[in-house]
Order: sequence, then C-alpha cells, then structure tokens
Amino acid sequence: MEKCINNSFKFPRVILASLSGISSLPFRRLNREAGCKFAFLEMISARSLSYSSKRTLEMMQSNSDDFPLGLQLLGEQSCYILKALEKLKDYKYDVLDFNAACPQKKITGHGKGAALLKNPKKLQNLLKGIVKVATVPVTVKLRLGWDNEKHAVDIAKHAQDAGISAVCIHGRTKTQGYRGSVNYSAIKKVKASLDIPVIASGDIWSAQLAKKMFDETNCDAITVARGVLGNPWIFNEIDEFLNTGKILPRPTIKEVSQTMRHHLGLCVDFYGEKIGTMKFRKFFIWYTSGFLKTKPLRLSVAGIKTKLQMLNLIDKFITFQSS
Ligand SMILES: Cc1cc2nc3c(=O)[nH]c(=O)nc-3n(C[C@H](O)[C@H](O)[C@H](O)COP(=O)(O)O)c2cc1C
Repeated sequence: MEKCINNSFKFPRVILASLSGISSLPFRRLNREAGCKFAFLEMISARSLSYSSKRTLEMMQSNSDDFPLGLQLLGEQSCYILKALEKLKDYKYDVLDFNAACPQKKITGHGKGAALLKNPKKLQNLLKGIVKVATVPVTVKLRLGWDNEKHAVDIAKHAQDAGISAVCIHGRTKTQGYRGSVNYSAIKKVKASLDIPVIASGDIWSAQLAKKMFDETNCDAITVARGVLGNPWIFNEIDEFLNTGKILPRPTIKEVSQTMRHHLGLCVDFYGEKIGTMKFRKFFIWYTSGFLKTKPLRLSVAGIKTKLQMLNLIDKFITFQSS
C-alpha cells in the first residue's frame, strides 16, 4: 500500500523521521541499505539556510543514491522561509516538510516549532506562503497540541486548508516532550477529520508497534524515530510483519558487529577519522543497549578517539557477548 500525495509523490508506508543531530548522509545511507524507502534530512533552520550558513549546507549534503529525500524547514518568519526556498531552487529533494512540532525551549522560545501549535492561523498563513512557491509537495509536522490534545483536529484542519499534501503528527503534546506513551485515539481523530494523508509518529519501537499504529489510527504511513537508533533492522522487520505477519529473528551478534563496523566506516569516510569516530560514539551506545555486560564498554566509549580504538571496542563487545 502506498499513498499518493497530490498525484505526484508516493510516500512508502514506513519513513525514516527527521532526527536533529542524527539524520546525516551516512546515517541515511546505512538505513537505506537496511530497507528504508524514504528518508528525511535533519531539520534545517530557514534563517540559517537563507544566509547559506556553512554548517547548514554541510547538514544538507546528499548524493545521487540519497533519494527519495525529504527536507524539513524550521522557522516562523516568512521572509526567511521564502529566502530559504529560493536557496533550495537547485537542491534535489522530493518533499518539503515544515516543522511545527519541535519542543525544545530554544526553538519554541523564538515562536518556532511547537510554539506554532498555539497559533493555527499563523501556521496556516506560513504554510500557504510555502505552498505557493514550493516546487515539491509540502507537508507539515505537528504535535497534538501545546499542553493538551483538545485542539489537535482544529490545528490539523487549519494546516490542511493551507493546501498542503499531508500531515505528519507526533501523538504527544509539546509539554509531554518524548515522555509518556503515544495517544493513538487522538491521532485517529485527526486522521478521520482530514482529507489528506496522515503520517503518524510515536513509539515505533518494533514491527508489532508499527502495526498497532496503523491498526489503531488508520494512518496512511508512519515515521520511525528513536526505534531506529542502533537498530536499522527495524525497516525489514516492519515490512515483513506488515506483509506476512511473520516476526523476523533479531540480528545475531555477528550481524550487529558487522553493521557497527560498516556504520563506523561510513562516518569516518564522510567526516574524517576524528569527527567520524566521535559521531559514532553515541551509536556504539545505541547498538549495544539491551545486551548484557556492556556497561564498562559503554563507559569507556567517551575516551575513544580513533577508528582503530573504536574497532577494538567493537571486538571487545563481541568477546564479552561470547564469553
Ligand atoms: C534526538 C531526536 C531528534 C529529533 N529531531 C526531529 C527533527 O529534527 N524534526 C522532527 O520533526 N522531529 C524530530 N524528532 C521527533 C521524531 O521525529 C519523532 O516524532 C518522535 O521521536 C516520536 O517518535 P518515537 O516515539 O518513535 O521516537 C526528534 C526526536 C529525537 C529523539
């Protein structure tokens, strides 16, 4: 089942979410190799892009294998958003998402991200301006509301009326942050009230929870977020479970360590040895979480500075698990 958006773009059922500080090119590549069929870049500040900030352009690095690709913009002033869209004229991407969901104080304090949930009319006007000039389908990322879900349908309808192609909704409020469990019934109400596709987000930790999200909300697609960290196998697991009801076996230690080595290699190739190894540290922790006897290794990862040291730590992880 694929859902057509504006008759011009088909979202697959399972999407790699935008993950700030994480969704780099090597991360997207690793997940595409593991079965991901659509990936988002990490959130891009419209203001920084309008200035062609070096860091922002680095975050947007992509290549010819990195498709289909979604780009998510963050902002609250249409002048910067329009300038950012101008900068994107020659950039290759397939969907433009607008962030009205980020709960971080440094973002909402400036009226951006989830702060826009408090002003659906303003959000609608920003979206109208984006739809007018965008060259690709436009979507919006919402939460259920600021501190309760009472207005979720109203916010989503305001967004739909701006002429966007789909709504992605994280089934928590801004106040909840990432805590508590996802509110399936509130997502279901939003889905039932809209004519455009709804992409649901929240608590996709396993194939079974992915199916639960489809079953409980009737959503058209889902995004995988924290559930993919150290777990690129989740894409095939979800696909298999949705298609056949079968639960694939979890990867063996050998498969986990091979993927870790490959992921480390992708990071080092992309960022260089020092930064690539540093960026991989958090992934080491995610890959090894849930395994027994890993605490000393996880504690020592902060001191790892070279690719060789990291490879040795991965070897130790295998030895610990086999002993
Ligand atoms: C570290 C981290 C970074 C995130 N960055 C973004 C982002 O840039 N844009 C966005 O729309 N959502 C972002 N999210 C939210 C996720 O896309 C997702 O909606 C949320 O984590 C709920 O899904 P989950 O419970 O399956 O993790 C981020 C979440 C985390 C944990």
